[in-house]
Amino acid sequence: MPPLHRTLPALRRLRLANASFQQPAHLRLRPAAPPLRTLHSSPRARQEEEKVSPTTSASSADHAPQDAPDRPQSKIKYTSDSYPDLKRDSRFKKVSKEDVEHFKKILGSEAAILDGVTNETGEEDFEQYNSDWMRKYRGQCRLVLKPETTEQVSGVLKYCNEQSLAVVPQGGNSGLVGGSVPVFDEIVINLSRLNKVRSFDDVSGVLVADAGVILQQADEYVGKQNHIFPLDLGAKGTCQIGANVATNAGGLRLLRYGSMHGNILGLECVLPDGTIMDDLSKLRKNNTGYDLKQLFIGGEGTIGIITAISILCPQRSSAINVAYFGLESYEKVMEAFKEAKKQLGEILSAFELMDRQSQSLYHQAKHVMSEEIVSDGVVAESETQLQSLWACREGISEAGQHWGGVYKYDLSIPLPELYSLVEDARKMFESNGLMHTEDEKFPVKDVVGYGHMGDSNLHLNVATRRYDKEVERALEPWVYEWVAKRQGSISAEHGLGLAKKAFIGYSRSETMIRLMGKIKETFDPVSGSVGFGVSCCEGIVAYADGLVCLQKGIMNPYKYI
Ligand code: FAD
Ligand code: MLT
Ligand code: ZN
Repeated sequence: MPPLHRTLPALRRLRLANASFQQPAHLRLRPAAPPLRTLHSSPRARQEEEKVSPTTSASSADHAPQDAPDRPQSKIKYTSDSYPDLKRDSRFKKVSKEDVEHFKKILGSEAAILDGVTNETGEEDFEQYNSDWMRKYRGQCRLVLKPETTEQVSGVLKYCNEQSLAVVPQGGNSGLVGGSVPVFDEIVINLSRLNKVRSFDDVSGVLVADAGVILQQADEYVGKQNHIFPLDLGAKGTCQIGANVATNAGGLRLLRYGSMHGNILGLECVLPDGTIMDDLSKLRKNNTGYDLKQLFIGGEGTIGIITAISILCPQRSSAINVAYFGLESYEKVMEAFKEAKKQLGEILSAFELMDRQSQSLYHQAKHVMSEEIVSDGVVAESETQLQSLWACREGISEAGQHWGGVYKYDLSIPLPELYSLVEDARKMFESNGLMHTEDEKFPVKDVVGYGHMGDSNLHLNVATRRYDKEVERALEPWVYEWVAKRQGSISAEHGLGLAKKAFIGYSRSETMIRLMGKIKETFDPVSGSVGFGVSCCEGIVAYADGLVCLQKGIMNPYKYI
């Protein structure tokens, strides 16, 4: 194990390398996904598409969620079977043949509809829309709609609201809290066809793009013009920028570039009744009353569908360097963080933590990383090394899944105590007889800790051989109580979805939860008893101006609000 002082020369090297503003040829990265073209792609932009640009993480790796190849995948249980307390809300209508005909008229293309209502489309075709990345949640939807324009989203939602058809907005379905899949037979509105870049201004760095653009493609697009998308995360090859905003995703660059709440300049959203809210501002400053777009950032598709975003993209650094240190204790890691900030100041883009157990799981699942690097340290000297160092970090999520399932906790904890949760959880599983690293009879394989230490954000993962209620009961609400005692947050970045629906009270006061309920009722009310109108009877609101409006609460029901 190297003493801490061995990290100092490496940190100084990083500082010098960045200060020199030279980009060594061997650290240049190739784009992986096919380049994205704008609606009106100019010849110059097309030439630029051949250029490459540096990034902070393993951008050319294949980030599409993958199944563990060498283990048979058991069928995912229906969410309604795993959580029998959840009951289908009888206010919602079941999709009929007439509804499907209407949607066909709105969307006007066979490619835009996956229809298991009027034809024999098999259950397996719906699997990717019904089941989540963790293989923990599974809905029973029989209709997927893929609108291509904002107007189509509007038409679909207006009709769903009138007909009391519940919907789930869905992006790349890489969410980790069960928010992106239906619980029962909600219609999935998948945004993947709404995927054009609308404009990019290389003076201001403002990108305006449809919600369904894949994050990696957005980053590569602005990369051609020497800018960087201010968000980067392991699911970049799959997740969509609109959904990134809907989840207020954090990721690997937040330390330097800030959150979605800070970088989003404007949004275009469709409200549950079909109204288009056009707030696609490109202004950095706009102090004119309530900032409504902020409600959609992190709203998790509960009050409307984001159809386009306007986002500030910073200038891309001309040099990127990565170092990987093996340190003997969490205290030493905190010292290294202090030193990294001292040496690198605002150019420090990421400071990530991975414990030995997480690297061991990754090693076992992927058979790629040498143990020597894990216990010592290395500064990337080549593009391949840079990629593989980042892969050691980004690959942990998938490695955790490899044995069957994973209980994931995504927490904000004050730095001095951040890693104690992993130690305490490990102690708990060592004493309750549920964990064994080798013996398949035990449900828990291992407890690992990693995350965005630079943002005080820990990912506690309990890798299991199967989802097991006894393991779940041991962890919940224990983890949330542990975090609440330290004034942390039960979700630093993944959101609440269905997974944390019952636990919001550990991080938000009654007053705040009540106010959130009022916001939901304003945008997507069931009874309309608060907000602009006066409730007449269930689902009908008489507005002060005499307009009567049906109110159904159709947006992403059964989730956190
Ligand atoms: P989905 O999973 O499809 O949807 C997520 C939520 O947003 C759902 O509630 C859905 O209803 C809603 N939604 C989707 N699109 C819209 C829309 N247009 N309008 C309104 N609501 C919408 N997250 C992080 O924060 N940081 C990370 O570092 C990170 N790393 C990850 C690494 C891996 C390997 C994986 C699998 C996931 C990771 N995630 C991370 C979680 C996930 O990728 C993010 O939450 C991401 O923003 C979800 O994007 P998506 O397109 O997959 O959305
Ligand atoms: C990460 O930081 O890797 C993501 O948030 C996903 C995860 O928690 O595994
Ligand atoms: Zn994360």
